[in-house]
Amino acid sequence: MKFHIDTKPTKQSLKRVDLLFLPVWLDVKEKPAIGKAGKPAMLGEMFANFSVADKRLIKNYLASRTRKPGESKLLRLNDAPAFVFIALETDFDEKKLALLVRRFIRTAKQEGFKVVAIYADDFESQQISAERMCALISGNSLFAHYDFSEQFKQVPPEGWKRVETVILATYHDAKKCADMVKVGEIMAASINECRTLANYPPSDLKPEGMAEAARTVANENKSIKVTIFDEKRLKQEGMNAILAVGAGSVSPPRLVIMEYSGGKKGEHPIALVGKGVTFDSGGLNLKPGDHMADMHMDMSGGAAVIYAISAIAKLKLPVNVLGLIPAVENMPSGLSYRQGDIIKAYGGKTIEIGNTDAEGRVILADAIEYAKTKKPELIVTIATLTGAAVVALGTRFSGLFVKGNKKLQDALEEIGNNSGDLLWPLPLNEDFEKDVEGNLADVTNTHKNNSRYGGASSAAAFLSHFAKGANFAHIDMAPRMTTNPEEEQLAKGAAGYGVRLFVELAMQWSEVKKTLKNE
Ligand code: BES
Ligand code: ZN
Ligand code: ZN
Repeated sequence: MKFHIDTKPTKQSLKRVDLLFLPVWLDVKEKPAIGKAGKPAMLGEMFANFSVADKRLIKNYLASRTRKPGESKLLRLNDAPAFVFIALETDFDEKKLALLVRRFIRTAKQEGFKVVAIYADDFESQQISAERMCALISGNSLFAHYDFSEQFKQVPPEGWKRVETVILATYHDAKKCADMVKVGEIMAASINECRTLANYPPSDLKPEGMAEAARTVANENKSIKVTIFDEKRLKQEGMNAILAVGAGSVSPPRLVIMEYSGGKKGEHPIALVGKGVTFDSGGLNLKPGDHMADMHMDMSGGAAVIYAISAIAKLKLPVNVLGLIPAVENMPSGLSYRQGDIIKAYGGKTIEIGNTDAEGRVILADAIEYAKTKKPELIVTIATLTGAAVVALGTRFSGLFVKGNKKLQDALEEIGNNSGDLLWPLPLNEDFEKDVEGNLADVTNTHKNNSRYGGASSAAAFLSHFAKGANFAHIDMAPRMTTNPEEEQLAKGAAGYGVRLFVELAMQWSEVKKTLKNE
């Protein structure tokens, strides 16, 4: 998909357009009007380029019955452009526009349209600048065009339907708009690569595959350094938690370490720690089939860390980031770790295994302790950690856990809202930490009384024990592992959650830093 900026849209340029995005503002009396009070300049001008017959067609459609905000309609014209995608709203905000752009692109793709156009200046009356629109358009177009199933299905004889060109019409500075188009492209490409890695079938993506993905990202970016701990090195380091969970699989575990240095030399990094379970069968506490169905995506947190760092590097953001991805396959076998095992994690704390299916928190323990040796300013864990988070929150928000720092919690929630990767706070305090104190060991990977209540908080509290002494936030992204295809206008499968969130965190870092406590 290519983006083309047109600063002089004319009747002639409309001729090559298969589908044009046509926003229509419904006025307060619910009577449709093209353009709000004072009509956005560009929209008026663009409409002037339509033939008399086509103008009538559109006006007739709008007048035919009471139109409701939120409706959209594909309408065939006689002249040029060939089709319009009419979107009716009383107000267009960024969230609505992002969804409309996705719907617009998916409609175009379905219909086999190759050249589509959007006027980027139309929303200045809604306080959305043409430049912001440019990033929104390029980003959401690519985000919505992506479909993982095309990698595996046989190519139809006529080839896959593809939108080839998106024309962005604007009277503003073409260079500035082109720069913003690029930002949107970087974001969407990183999110889509993240989705691909997460969607990958589990027999074709083992822990070493996670390492390979990180190496590929580093090869494209000189400012990223990757180190991989293989099973031998993990043993030397005493990373027994990762080794224990990985023991049941014939594919050995890895710890992927990524370092991006965009900030000042010696500046303490943000540590992003992502769960990389390439398949979660549950281990000896085997999951029932319907619960195992999506568990090839149990490495989504790790994938988010890999591609967030890639995007942060491509955008050259002035921060230092440390990425850690413990990668394992959780499988049952004679070599598997067992219920009742006691494992000494990196750093010395011992873990009692109450359930081999609570494996994510176990591998994260080693990674968090290792992160602390690099003196990070803040540690953020991201993991498809608990089914309990899905039960609590549904599928729109990830759970956010911050112990005793309301300012940091608020800042992260805000970053969630701005990025579109939403977060909702859930409780974490000393009482929850007590719940996971071990009977025989320091901590247990299940509730000490085997209570299932508040399972997402128990998991967070387990991690919190290992994060002691560092600024720490935990994101349980199990609720956002997969898309809500209709509601979000995205293909089925992995949502690519976390990439936008961490890029936004890196962009807002100087502000977030002020909320942190210095020990
Ligand atoms: N990977 C799962 C959690 C999960 C469930 C992610 C559904 C996405 C969708 C995790 O490893 C797990 O199995 N957690 C257990 C913990 C329990 C055994 C304490 C759970 O949530 O049931
Ligand atoms: Zn599990
Ligand atoms: Zn898991």
